[in-house]
Amino acid sequence: MADFPSDDFCIFTIDYRLMQEQSKNKKVIRILGIESSCDETAASILENGKILSNIVAGQEVHKEYGGVVPELASRAHQQNIVPVVSVAMRKAGVEPKDLDAVAVTRGPGLAGSLHVGVSFAKSLSMALGIPVIGVHHMQAHILAHFIAGQEQSFPGFPFLALTVSGGHTQLVKVNDYFAMELLGETRDDAAGEAYDKIAQLLGLPYPGGPHIDRLAAEGNHTAFSFPVSRLEGYDFSFSGLKTSVLFFLRKKVAENPDFIHDNLADLAASVQYAIIRTLVEKVEKAALETGIGRIAIGGGVSANRGLRSAMQAIARKHGWHLYIPEFQYTTDNAAMIAIAGYMKYLRGVFDGLDLVPAARLPITNS
Ligand code: KG4
Ligand code: ZN
Repeated sequence: MADFPSDDFCIFTIDYRLMQEQSKNKKVIRILGIESSCDETAASILENGKILSNIVAGQEVHKEYGGVVPELASRAHQQNIVPVVSVAMRKAGVEPKDLDAVAVTRGPGLAGSLHVGVSFAKSLSMALGIPVIGVHHMQAHILAHFIAGQEQSFPGFPFLALTVSGGHTQLVKVNDYFAMELLGETRDDAAGEAYDKIAQLLGLPYPGGPHIDRLAAEGNHTAFSFPVSRLEGYDFSFSGLKTSVLFFLRKKVAENPDFIHDNLADLAASVQYAIIRTLVEKVEKAALETGIGRIAIGGGVSANRGLRSAMQAIARKHGWHLYIPEFQYTTDNAAMIAIAGYMKYLRGVFDGLDLVPAARLPITNS
């Protein structure tokens, strides 16, 4: 690594103290959010907590591999990032000079993919003389609940958050915007990963979660019985379910090669039931044990209709308040990065140009 003997050698300097002073007097604050932690290149413009544009470019290239190929993901981010940011700015009617800060996912995620977003954000920060703000991806999934203009009110603190995505499954106690405690997480596969891997066994395209969701609505969840994981404490496990489905299908297909085709909707419904029971039972246990009756869900799997209605049912049963984000803020997006960046901006929390991505990043680290 290069060794810089003194600040004089750095031609790029940003006066953060001055910016923090200036930020206090601003009435209109516009943040560009950038997300590139996995296989979505996304950009969003947020003005005073409201989203003006929210652009997400998916990456078709992974479909033929049945999962995200990291090297191909970072290349696609390189191709997409400039057009995606340009479209987000144009749609919002905002020019570069109107931006007050650029917020970017700094982790957790795929290292090569994160590097594209962080490098781009730092370049923009230097070019425009505005601060760069690093954002924790999983915190952002939770803070998406604070984007203005959604049907529901904002959750009060403390609340419990179940974040379920392709890379993570976490149960978090949210004491404040950036004070989060991890109560439990998956010990193996994430919930979204379980959906995607089991969908692949069923011959469904990647990502399989939405396909299982759609098919499950037409099937009978009691048709087949798959194991519901019940670990002690607040941790989750989904790899046992995946293995159980694999062995079950092997046996059944050996007897009848059309078994999957003939039972697709019932298989989807039964798998979905096992995943949702695992999630809902943990949330119920945490809410009862902590006495916190405000529960938020987030992440790609929170788009699942079965999970939404199962969570609504337990919330109704106990008289708890449930917070469900708009669909556009569930799967990976940059609006959630922009709102998290905005909250940091209001607190004068900026990063330096030495910001580096972190593939692994605990949620307690904001
Ligand atoms: O949050 P996200 O977009 O990316 C990560 O941070 O990983 O989550 C993606 C995951 C994928 O595994 C996808 O299959 C799952 O969310 N997903 C769903 C649904 N929509 C997306 N899973 C179940 N039902 C859905 N409707
Ligand atoms: Zn995510």
